Amino acid sequence: MKNESRFTFLSKTSSQFPKAFLLFFLVGYVLGPIFSPFPAKGAPQDKERWNRNYQTQEYISGKEPVPFLKENVELLPKGTVLDLAMGEGRNGVYLATKGFEVTGIDISETGLRKAEALAAEHGVKISTKVADLEQYKLKANTYDVIICTYYLQRDLFPQIISALKPGGVAVVETFTLDHQKYQPGFRQEYLLKPNELLTLLKGLTVLRYQAVDTGNAAYASILARKPS
Ligand SMILES: C[S@@+](CC[C@H](N)C(=O)[O-])C[C@H]1O[C@@H](n2cnc3c(N)ncnc32)[C@H](O)[C@@H]1O
Repeated sequence: MKNESRFTFLSKTSSQFPKAFLLFFLVGYVLGPIFSPFPAKGAPQDKERWNRNYQTQEYISGKEPVPFLKENVELLPKGTVLDLAMGEGRNGVYLATKGFEVTGIDISETGLRKAEALAAEHGVKISTKVADLEQYKLKANTYDVIICTYYLQRDLFPQIISALKPGGVAVVETFTLDHQKYQPGFRQEYLLKPNELLTLLKGLTVLRYQAVDTGNAAYASILARKPS
């Protein structure tokens, strides 16, 4: 359809990207694996690390959704949302306030408790499930919307596509390789290559895409729809 595929490439020089988020990312994703005797992937140590990170009154990723989600919420079909690696719930709770029926999955029960508290703060309800996404299998053709921000597990993408209902929409955002200039030592395997999100969601219709460099963070975002 005309005008449906809008690709936006932004380059900004300043941003409100939460500094606490970057700090906890550094602790969670960079220093954690370096000091851990276990491989970073798969999971008991991830669970402990993220439970520790989230053991603070403060919302380390903030309480506001990522701007890309807020800017494009009108493009989402109303209905069920699955928030993968929901964390403290900033995105899922925002969608619940917009009338979506939200389920969040995360390996950290501490994060999900904070997500539930955030939902209560807004007077909405969400469902949460503690699970390791490296083991968990998503049910096919089930969700109207799937969101996944700042959690990169490449082998999850075929499942994301399959778990969307026909006409369902995926929203994904995470750091790109350029982010290494702001956090040298950030593990490359957790960073997106140029245009990689377009490849990972191949087969879906891309409605929005952006690659952003804010001057203190570099990330890419995509919103793409499964064919009906
Ligand atoms: C950087 S946080 C992002 C949280 C949230 N998506 C956001 O943007 O605010 C990464 C999240 O991934 C979760 N996580 C890490 N490994 C996981 C796994 N194997 N299965 C499920 N969640 C996992 C962590 O608990 C953490 O909440």
